[in-house]
Amino acid sequence: MKAIVQSALGEPATVLKLIDIQDTPQPGPEEVLMDVKLASVHHGDLGMTRFQPSIPEDVGYVRRGSEAVGIVRALGFEVEGQGNLKVGDRVIGFPALGSWAESVAIPALTAIPVPPEVGDEVAAQLLINYVTARMILRGLRKTVSDEVLGGGAILVTGASTVVARLLLHFLNKEGLKSIGLARSAVSAKRVADEQRGVQVAATEDADWQAQVTSIAAGRKIVGVLDCVSGAVVEDIVPLLADDAAIITYGALGGGQLGVNLPNIINRQFVIRGVTFGRWFYEVPREEQINDIQSAFKLADELPSLFKVGGIYSLADFQQAIAAVEAPNRDGFVFLKP
Ligand SMILES: NC(=O)c1ccc[n+]([C@@H]2O[C@H](COP(=O)([O-])OP(=O)(O)OC[C@H]3O[C@@H](n4cnc5c(N)ncnc54)[C@H](OP(=O)(O)O)[C@@H]3O)[C@@H](O)[C@H]2O)c1
Repeated sequence: MKAIVQSALGEPATVLKLIDIQDTPQPGPEEVLMDVKLASVHHGDLGMTRFQPSIPEDVGYVRRGSEAVGIVRALGFEVEGQGNLKVGDRVIGFPALGSWAESVAIPALTAIPVPPEVGDEVAAQLLINYVTARMILRGLRKTVSDEVLGGGAILVTGASTVVARLLLHFLNKEGLKSIGLARSAVSAKRVADEQRGVQVAATEDADWQAQVTSIAAGRKIVGVLDCVSGAVVEDIVPLLADDAAIITYGALGGGQLGVNLPNIINRQFVIRGVTFGRWFYEVPREEQINDIQSAFKLADELPSLFKVGGIYSLADFQQAIAAVEAPNRDGFVFLKP
């Protein structure tokens, strides 16, 4: 079986390798074995390759990939007879760690059956991004009161990313004032054209701060939902209201948050990190089910949020990685075993 693995920390283009694993994969007692149809290449996957490998010493490598859609090929013995899943079901592995491969064993609890109307290209990118966006909004609401949010404006950086576009959609739907901030004017226009009522500025425009202030139309910017960090956040700070919340969930711009301590202290900013991983044990089961059903509903209603930016074979994974990091990409990148 072919799988993409990593045995050292570093740049994905250098440290990832496609190998043949000799053993036939078997599901553990509480797992299912899934034949991968399509696996997404998330920025987070590349970030983990660069910064967070935990390489089991006995094997000497770690498999990469975190979300995929596939077909259940085998059930672990404790899963058989439970009736929730059967061989042949189409499921999303959420998460499916090690899914840049022909097949992957995942806990049965994380195998989510996909309704027939949701295509593979949407299913394979849906849940991590959707759940992340919902967790970011939960984080925002824990940090800023409804009253302050209702009277203010919320800035969403990295506006051309899927997560940010989902955030703009949700904020808009909830009647909250949002301002998108992309890096290029081309991307800003694409996002604004996609969602009625959403306004997006571009940091490549010299007057982007004035544009943001103008879109805010007199409202205070009481929150930033940020996946860029670094210099962009540094330049956003003067635009923020005192006590503003900075919800940070990604580091496309480098890794330093971009807010200095005197600003945090004197302007009483509240900084909250968000990871989708908390969804699994922080969000009650009924809300989780609701999130999953809402994600499928949204995929059906607004497929333009879930475009395809490229599909590559496992052998061409280097091209897939380059495509993920290429500017002005319009859609998600996948590996197809
Ligand atoms: N905390 C969590 O649990 C969690 C979960 C999922 C994702 N994330 C993070 O969320 C972010 C977005 O992920 P995604 O999967 O939605 O991304 P995506 O859809 O793959 O979007 C990537 C886009 O980001 C834009 N971009 C890249 N570098 C940028 C920069 N320096 N400044 C502004 N825009 C930049 C590029 O658009 P243009 O070329 O059009 O500018 C690029 O096409 C990533 O940082 C990811 O790690 C976090």
